[in-house]
Formats: sequence, structure tokens, C-alpha cells
Amino acid sequence: MRRPIWLVWLTIALVACQPIAAPAPSAPAAVLDEWIEGAPGVGDPVFPLLGNGGYDVQHYTIELSVDVMRNEIMGATSIRAEATLPLRSFNLDLLGLTVEEVTVDGAPAHFARNGQELTIVPTAPLAAGALFTTVVTYAGTPAPIRDAHLDFVDQGWNQRNDAIFVVSEPQGAMTWYPVNNHPIDKATYTLRITVEESYIVAANGVLREEIDHGDRRTYTWEMAQPMASYLTTVVIGDFVRITEATSTGVEIRHYFPPQDADRLTQLFAATDEMIAFYSDLIGEYPFDAYGAAVMPFPLGFALETQTLPIFGLDTVMEGVNAHELAHQWFGNAVTLASWDQTWLNEGFATYLQRLWLERKLGRAFLESGMRRYYEMLAAMKTPAPGTVDAQNLFSMSVYERGAWVLHALRLRIGDELFRQFLCTYYARFKDGVASTEDFIALANEVSRQDLTDFLRSWIYDETLPPIPEIGESFPSSD
Ligand code: TRP
Ligand code: ZN
Repeated sequence: MRRPIWLVWLTIALVACQPIAAPAPSAPAAVLDEWIEGAPGVGDPVFPLLGNGGYDVQHYTIELSVDVMRNEIMGATSIRAEATLPLRSFNLDLLGLTVEEVTVDGAPAHFARNGQELTIVPTAPLAAGALFTTVVTYAGTPAPIRDAHLDFVDQGWNQRNDAIFVVSEPQGAMTWYPVNNHPIDKATYTLRITVEESYIVAANGVLREEIDHGDRRTYTWEMAQPMASYLTTVVIGDFVRITEATSTGVEIRHYFPPQDADRLTQLFAATDEMIAFYSDLIGEYPFDAYGAAVMPFPLGFALETQTLPIFGLDTVMEGVNAHELAHQWFGNAVTLASWDQTWLNEGFATYLQRLWLERKLGRAFLESGMRRYYEMLAAMKTPAPGTVDAQNLFSMSVYERGAWVLHALRLRIGDELFRQFLCTYYARFKDGVASTEDFIALANEVSRQDLTDFLRSWIYDETLPPIPEIGESFPSSD
């Protein structure tokens, strides 16, 4: 039996603040003077083979022709990258499919495959600092990853009932394109997808172009801000595109099954207000567009794919909507630095989801809700969320004790400083990644207190710490 993900199982007045400026960056490290083989991983503690060493991707152009009924793809992914080390060879992550050809800067390159590692040997080595373009031509039927530790989802490219959707967190991006598959290497994307004309294609970012070829049609989507690979998505099927008026300048476009469009439009009616609320609280919405893609069947989960979260018919609920939207700031714009720190994504999104409800229902409502989760965490003796293994990436502790880390910080430093912390954390790490150590250091910096032991015990101690004394600012926000 599949167990539903925690978030779904569970979910049955503000002044914009000014972030504090960042300190000057330190100088880059010197590089070696010998040709090396790029590493097959970036040293992630949970997934050692995710990502690769020696280069930094700037842009992916994924051009695929898709046969929806047969679930076959063919095409090419072009990857513009900068070598960060002098490379004799380098790896990409790709699982399954048949690679037909690889070129580097237009010249055919040797390649070899071993599990998820695609090793590429260009005819001439790549100097550190060199910009180079790799084109991988491939075809086949993508097979999603079935991981016993994450049994609520098949990660990656899924085909079901005449529809296709991609939900990759954490590993699935490599099931449909060759990629440096770790969040530390974010890049911008162009997704150019060709399908039979009876289908509609949605993907990350903004729809730039539609080309009609008669019986087939090409959709070009552009994700102009950096994106982690686990957040890329493509949705293909029979959908209607619903656009909404915006008060913030963010384009709102949803993709709904035609027969459910009216009901779903009602259920997502607060989207513009939610974007405005989080923008005031945290900082400007990070991307150009936002909207939900709702599949015409239940999924048991929702995923915060960048600018276009994926929902099942069963997971469209106000709390989940607020959660996936909040992830656009925390998770997507500011991303976890490694997969043992999922609390940085899920604790933030869960707490921010509660702040949307606090805005509507008041501080006392929030406090009593948080206390109920505290008692549940205490009774269940859940492990600390700070360093999780593969079994616990999306466990209750990651969501609920993760949210409590933020609430405890707020109680300790008061609403004013907490708000300052949220917006500074966002401004400081936007478009990149942040670690638990970054989180603690910034809390110390913003509060001008040494909160290291306090936060460490909330994040890492087996025993749940006592609830902090409510600060002098209570009750202030309603
Ligand atoms: N990040 C998702 C959330 O909003 C949970 C999740 C993790 C997920 N991995 C997934 C959802 C894969 C769908 C597919 O909490
Ligand atoms: Zn989440």
C-alpha cells in the first residue's frame, strides 16, 4: 500500500520589509593545471551520484517530440555550461532511454553509459573557464524511478490515461533529459515540445511561441530565472488554460481538465491575493508567471514545480495551494543545499502556509494549531528534522518540526525581527541554495543575538525542546 505524503494526509497585515545587505563575496578558489575526469557526483550525503563535478550549467534547451499514446519521446537536449576545472571528460545524469549521438561544440564526442552516469569525452579537453555546448540526441520511453523510500510517487516522467506529467523530486529529472541533476547547479531553461495537435502542452515559465504544423504543434516555454532540475515539469493532455487578473504583475495561468474547470477556478480564486500576501511578507514573487496544473485524476500529492505546481484532483485544497505557492519563494527561489536538509524546503512552506491562515483567522488560531502539532510531535517522539536519511526525506518531522523551527525563532525574537529575518533570508539566497548553517548564521546576524545553541537544539536534538516564552510582541499581527 502506498502511504500518502504527510502534507496531504494532514490537510484534510503587513508592511513590506527591507532586507539587510549581504557581506562581500570571497575570492574564487584556484584551479589545478592538469586535465581531470569530472566527478560522477557532487557529494550529496543522501544521493552521492546526483549531479556531477567540474562544470556549471547555464542553460538547457530541451527539444522533444512526444507520442502521447505510445509514451515515446525523441529529440535532443542542448546544454550550455562553463567548465570549472580543466576537463578531459565529464558526466551527465541520464537514466534509461537510448542515446544516439553526443556532440561538444559541434564535434562528435565519445560517450559511455553506466547506470545513471553518461560520461562524455570531447575530442579536445575543456580548459577551466571555457564555455561549451553539449548536445545529446536521444529517444525512447521514459521510465519513472520507483524508490522504496518514496513509495507515494513514481519520480520523473509519468504517463497515465492519455496524459503526461512530470514530478521529479528528488531524482526524477534524469528520466527524461540529460542533466546535472543536483539543486546546487541551477540553470535557465527553454522547453520546446511537439505533440499531436489534439493535446495542449504546459511547462515551466512563460509560453513564448506556438507553431502549428497541421497535425502537430510545437510549444515553446521559457524559464528565465534559475531553476533546480527537480522542479522542471511538462504537462501534456486535454486541458483548458484559465487566466486570471493580477494585482501584482505576475501572470496567472492555470491548466485544468475541461470538465472541472469551473469548480477548480473557484478553488483557486484566492491565488492573486495569496501572491500579494507572500510578496509583502517575504519579497517580490521570484518568477514571471504562476498557476496550477491539475491532472484529471487523483494523485495523493502535489508538487511545487517551478511556476506550475502539479496537483491531483484530490489535492486541490486551500492549505495545499498556499503551501505550493509558498514553495516558489522557499524551495524554488531559495533551494535546499543538499537532500539531507529537506526541512529547509518543507518547514518553510508548511509554516508559510500557516501564516496565510493566520492572516485570515488570527494569531490565537495559529498558536493553538502550532501547539497541537507540538503535542503530536512530542507524543510520537519523531526524530529531529535537521539531517534526514533517504527514508525520512518527507516525513512528518521534516514538515511539522521544520515549521516549528521557524515558529520557535519567531517566538524567541518577536514578530518584527522574524519578518526581517524572512525577507533577508530570501533576498540573500534567492536564485541559489541555502544550508542549515546559512539559516543559523543569518538568524544570528539579523537578531544580533547568538541563537546557535537554541536553533541547533530545535533542528538537531532528538528531544523536542520546550516551547520558548512568548516574546513581547504577542499578540501583534491581527
Ligand atoms: N515537495 C512536495 C510537497 O509539496 C512533496 C514531494 C516530495 C513530492 N517529492 C515528491 C510530491 C514527488 C510529488 C512528487 O510537500
Ligand atoms: Zn512541500
